Amino acid sequence: MRRKLIAGNWKMNGQGAQLGFFDSLRSVAANAACDVLICPPATLLSRAADLCRGSAIKLGGQDCHAAESGAHTGDVSASMLVDAGASFVVLGHSERRADHGERSESVKEKAGAALAAGLVPVICVGETREEREAGRAIEIVLEQVKASMPDDGHDRLVVAYEPVWAIGTGLVASLDDIVEMHAAIRDVLPVPDVIRVLYGGSVKPANAREILHLDNVDGALVGGASLAAESFSEIIQAVS
Ligand code: PGA
Repeated sequence: MRRKLIAGNWKMNGQGAQLGFFDSLRSVAANAACDVLICPPATLLSRAADLCRGSAIKLGGQDCHAAESGAHTGDVSASMLVDAGASFVVLGHSERRADHGERSESVKEKAGAALAAGLVPVICVGETREEREAGRAIEIVLEQVKASMPDDGHDRLVVAYEPVWAIGTGLVASLDDIVEMHAAIRDVLPVPDVIRVLYGGSVKPANAREILHLDNVDGALVGGASLAAESFSEIIQAVS
């Protein structure tokens, strides 16, 4: 039985004044029927780690460089994330793929580096609206899954299916489409029984329960609704 994972991706949001969030989430996470993860901006990681010590809340980065250290201005390595208190890292998010031209080959390298540093990579995949309308959604996503997959460490990673057109738009894939895509992803995974496949894209308290109980959906990657402790807690509670 795969334990569900509810992950919050704060993206480029959050400053010190928002750290009270973690106090509010502590008891919800302690009583949760799932793993609870927050990926704040890198600037907040170590302060969040201080606040989460001894709690069930796990922390993650939103990206890492494939190298251990070096001349890479503005980048953060996997071991730096570990040093700051992270145990997960989101990789290949569609915003990184779109804004930074990140390709699956680079996601694969980063995933290898993350695993080597002891992080759990959350590898994101998803089709654009044009790709779905052209009937190519499954083909595109499976291509991304295969090309982003590191060579080993498969029993420690997580995949997140996030249709690009559903992110931050309030649009959600139909339940049938989610079931179809998650089954197709599961089929090509190296250790299909172990790898958790999350759904992401406008997951909210109002739709979380029906999505989280679909076949092959092992949790959610939540953007907007993870910024407030109340809505994120409701999504966590929708697991049980
Ligand atoms: P959203 O973002 O929940 O705001 O749609 C999801 C994500 O990008 O991970």
